Amino acid sequence: MNFLGSHILSIDQFDTNDVETLFSVADQMQPYAQRELKTRVLEGAILGALFFEPSTRTRISFGCAFNLLGGQVRETTAIKASALAKGESLYDTARVISGYSDIIAMRHPMNGSVEEFSRASRVPVINAGDGSAEHPSQALLDLYTIKKELKINQGFDGLNIAMVGDLKFGRTVHSLCKLLKLYKNISFTLVSPGELKMPELIVEDLRQAGHKVIETEDMETALHDKHTVYLTRIQEERFSSQEEANIYRGRFRLNQSIYTAHCQPNTVIMHPLPRDSRAEANELDNDLNQHPSLAIFRQADNGVVIRMAMFALTLGVENDIHKTSSEVHWYTDRRF
Ligand code: NCD
Repeated sequence: MNFLGSHILSIDQFDTNDVETLFSVADQMQPYAQRELKTRVLEGAILGALFFEPSTRTRISFGCAFNLLGGQVRETTAIKASALAKGESLYDTARVISGYSDIIAMRHPMNGSVEEFSRASRVPVINAGDGSAEHPSQALLDLYTIKKELKINQGFDGLNIAMVGDLKFGRTVHSLCKLLKLYKNISFTLVSPGELKMPELIVEDLRQAGHKVIETEDMETALHDKHTVYLTRIQEERFSSQEEANIYRGRFRLNQSIYTAHCQPNTVIMHPLPRDSRAEANELDNDLNQHPSLAIFRQADNGVVIRMAMFALTLGVENDIHKTSSEVHWYTDRRF
């Protein structure tokens, strides 16, 4: 894929070389994300951040990533705070906002909406999550996290991963499956209630590509031989009622004692966050917060360098980052 000027809408656009390119640019972003250096490579550029669905990490980390490259962010949050609430079409919004911005990151509750928007946009659009369909930047940061946590140098062949929770509506696991599909001999154990299974099409694609896929409701057995366990939240906003979502909440929970009894001693624990920490769900218990294999906060941190790399490549400044760099002069010690 040619990153320059491209929309990034789906993991379907990527091959393993693209992933490698992106990860190597992300590595170069580390000193900036760690506040060792600052750069002004995107000084004067504007990111239009359109988040028509709730978001904490994705919105803030896209914004921080752009700011850390020296650019500015203009954003709108929620459909009701934008002209979409007055009946404006995605086409019109795209024509207008792309006149104000150099690049756009967009999240929207409807599957396919970001792609529709991108067709009318005059600048590159990055999909920050469209309904239950895809979340490509999350999948890329997830894979980058797997690489860092497992200290993998080359490829992901032979990875053994369990995905747990709402695999039907969870766009992060849809994109992550598509991304892992690019490698060889991956073992997927998909743990979900029968009604919330991974879409058939994705499972078929994985099998066709030669990967092993087991679908089960038995989480404890599924955990046994995994390099990584990837937990997800019941996507309550995609159900027709709260009552329906409540049926599934709390069905699968990981805590210290289950981890000790069933996981390998160093199985990496991942979750795209937010984790549902209400008592009735508590899908990933706080009693694992100090566990060295709990990668969730490092995973969230990785969102910044991955998104910086996406911006740098799409706007064609990946070789210029260090040209305007200088040391930071404020207090930068991080406690942990
Ligand atoms: C996810 C999302 O929005 O799809 N969150 C995120 O971007 N990190 C997962 C979720 O909301 O459960």
